[in-house]
Amino acid sequence: MTRATARAHPNIALVKYWGKRDAALNLPATGSMSMTLDVFPTTTTVTVEPGRDRDELVLGGVVQQGVPRERVERFLDLVRTASGSSARARVETENTVPSAAGLASSASGFAALAGAAAAAYGLDLDERALSRLARQGSGSASRSIISGFAVWHAGDDDASSFAEAVPAPELAMVVAMVDRREKSVSSREAMRRTVDTSPFYPAWITSTARSLEDALAAAAAGDVERLGGITETNALRMHALIQSCDPPIRYLSPVSVEIFDRVVALRAEGVAAFATADAGPNVVVICRPADAATVAAAIDDLADTVTSLPGPGMQVLDRVPA
Ligand code: PMV
Repeated sequence: MTRATARAHPNIALVKYWGKRDAALNLPATGSMSMTLDVFPTTTTVTVEPGRDRDELVLGGVVQQGVPRERVERFLDLVRTASGSSARARVETENTVPSAAGLASSASGFAALAGAAAAAYGLDLDERALSRLARQGSGSASRSIISGFAVWHAGDDDASSFAEAVPAPELAMVVAMVDRREKSVSSREAMRRTVDTSPFYPAWITSTARSLEDALAAAAAGDVERLGGITETNALRMHALIQSCDPPIRYLSPVSVEIFDRVVALRAEGVAAFATADAGPNVVVICRPADAATVAAAIDDLADTVTSLPGPGMQVLDRVPA
C-alpha cells in the first residue's frame, strides 16, 4: 500500500478557456492565462490498495457514486496506464471552496488529484508532465499546477498543451461569493453546447487568441490597467458567447451584473479595478494589492468577499512509504 497527499488551489483566468478542440484529450480551442489563488485549497489523499475491486471517491467525508466517481476512475486509469499498475485506489478529498459554483473547484481538485495520484503510483513527473496530466481531468486544472500567473498553451497535441509560469505585475483578486449553490449546467455541457450551437464561436476563438497575446505582453510590461481591461472584456465576451447558445445558458445573476457596474464606477473614481467571472454567478475583481480593501468595501453589501494574492502551485505534502 502506498499513500500520497497533495494540495492545490483554484485559479481564476484573466483570459478564459471556453471550448475544446479535442474532448478526449481536453485540448482547448485557444490558450488561456490565469492567476492561482492563495485561498480555497483542495487537499487530496490517494491510497493505492491492491485488494480493492474498484476506485472509491470520498468528497468531504461523503462517499460519491455516479459521475464524480467515474470521472476520478477514468483519470486514475491514465495514471495506472503510465505506471503499469492495475491496483485500485481510495481517493479522499477536502474542498474549502463550494463545489461546482463557478469557483474553480475542478481546477484545484484535479490538480491535487494529479499530484497525489502520480506520487502514490510512483510516477516521477516534472511540472510540465503534471500539468498535462491534470489537464486531462479538467482543462483549467493544468494551470493550478503552476504558482502565481500561468499561461496554458493550446498546443497541437497532448505533449504541447500544458501550462507554465509567466511574469506579471503584483495583483490581488477580491472574490465576491454571490451564490454558493451548485450551477445548473456544468461547464463541460455548456462548452459542448457553445461549440455546437453558438453562431459567435468562431469570433470568440479568433478574438481570444489575440487577447491572450495582448494580455501576456501587458503582464510582462507590468501594465495593470491594460491587463485588467483585457480581462474584463474577455470575461464579458465569454458570457455573451454562453448566452448565445441554443438553448441559452446564463450564469451571471442580477447581483453579478451589479458588481460589474460597481467596478466600472470604481474606475471612474480612479481605482484600477476590473471584474471577471467564470461559469457561475460569483465575480472576481482584479486590482493592485493596495486597493483590495477599497474594492471589497465597495461591494460587500452585495456579497461576502475573500481577498487573495497569487498562491502556490500544487504541492505534494506527504508520501508513505516515502
Ligand atoms: O476546466 P473546466 O472544464 O472547469 O472549465 C473552466 C472554464 C472557465 O472556468 C469558465 C474558464 C477558465 O479558463 O477557467
